[in-house]
Amino acid sequence: MAIHSRTPSPLSVIDEGAEQHSGVDHDHYETAPLAPAVDPPERTEMGYDEQFVKPEGRRGDGPALVAASTSVAVFLVSTWAITFANHPTSLGLFFFHPILQSLAIAAFTYGILTLQPTSQARTKAAGLTRHQVVILALGVPAISVGTFAIYYRKSLHDHPHFTTWHGTIGIASIAWMVVQMAVGGGSVWFGGRLFGGPKAKLLWKYHRLSGYLLFPLFLLAAYLGGAWSSWTTGNSPYVVRLLAFTISPIVLLVAILARMRHHGRRYL
Ligand code: HEM
Repeated sequence: MAIHSRTPSPLSVIDEGAEQHSGVDHDHYETAPLAPAVDPPERTEMGYDEQFVKPEGRRGDGPALVAASTSVAVFLVSTWAITFANHPTSLGLFFFHPILQSLAIAAFTYGILTLQPTSQARTKAAGLTRHQVVILALGVPAISVGTFAIYYRKSLHDHPHFTTWHGTIGIASIAWMVVQMAVGGGSVWFGGRLFGGPKAKLLWKYHRLSGYLLFPLFLLAAYLGGAWSSWTTGNSPYVVRLLAFTISPIVLLVAILARMRHHGRRYL
C-alpha cells in the first residue's frame, strides 16, 4: 500500500510546531479537521511549486471508485426494477419503502465517495459541501420518509413493529443516523458551538469513524430486507436478489473501505 511521503518544506516546520502545541496533525491529510478554524495560506501564492501540492489519489482508488459506483447502481436499479415490476400501484405505502431506502443508500454512498481522497483545503471544503448537500437534501429525507412509510403502513393494518431482524437492524440504524447527524453537524456548524467551540471541530473524526460503521449497518439492513423478506423472495428471481442485495452490498462495502485513509489516526 503506497503511503504518500510528506514533502519537506519550510511550512512543515511551522506546522509541526503547531501540532505539538495542539496535539492535532493539521498538515496531515484526513487528520486535519474538515472545516479548519482558520483558512490555511494559499501555498501557490506563497511561491510553492505545483509539485509540492500533495497528490490526492492513491493507486487503487480509481478501480475502487468504479466498483463502488457500479455496485450501488446495480443495487439501486434492481431494487427499483423489482418494485416497479410488481404491481406498484397496488403496493400502497410499501411502494415508497424499497424505492426510497435504496435511493438513500445511493446518496450516502456518493456522500462518502465525494469526501474520501480530499487532502487540500480547497477540495476538502468543496467535498464537505457536496457531502452535506447530498446527505441532508436527499439521503436523510429519503430514508426518513421510506422508514415512516413502512412503519405507518404496519400501524394502519395493526401489524406489530420490528418483528424481523431486518426491521430491528433497520430502526437501529435510523436511530444511529440521528446521532451521526448531530455529531457531524455539531462539529462543523456555527464553528462547532453546539459542542463548545473550536475544539468541537475535532469531533468530526468520531463522526467519520461512526459513519464508516453506520454505512455497513445500512447495507446489512438492505441485505436482510432485500435477500430475505417474503416480499422480495416472492417477487424476484433468485439471481437478481443475489446480485442486488448480497453481491452488490459486499462489493460496495469493500470498495468504500479500500478508499478509506487510516494512517496515524487516533480516537482515544
Ligand atoms: C437502509 C435500508 C433500509 C432500512 C433502514 C429499512 C428499515 C425498515 C424498518 C425499520 C422496517 C420495520 C418497520 C416496522 O416494523 O414498523 C422495515 C420493514 C420492511 N422492509 Fe425495510 N429497510 C431498508 C431497506 C429495505 C429494502 C432494500 C427492502 C426490499 C427490497 C426492504 C423491505 C422491507 C419489507 C418487506 C419490510 C416488512 C417486513 C419486515 O418488517 O421485515 N427494506 N424496513
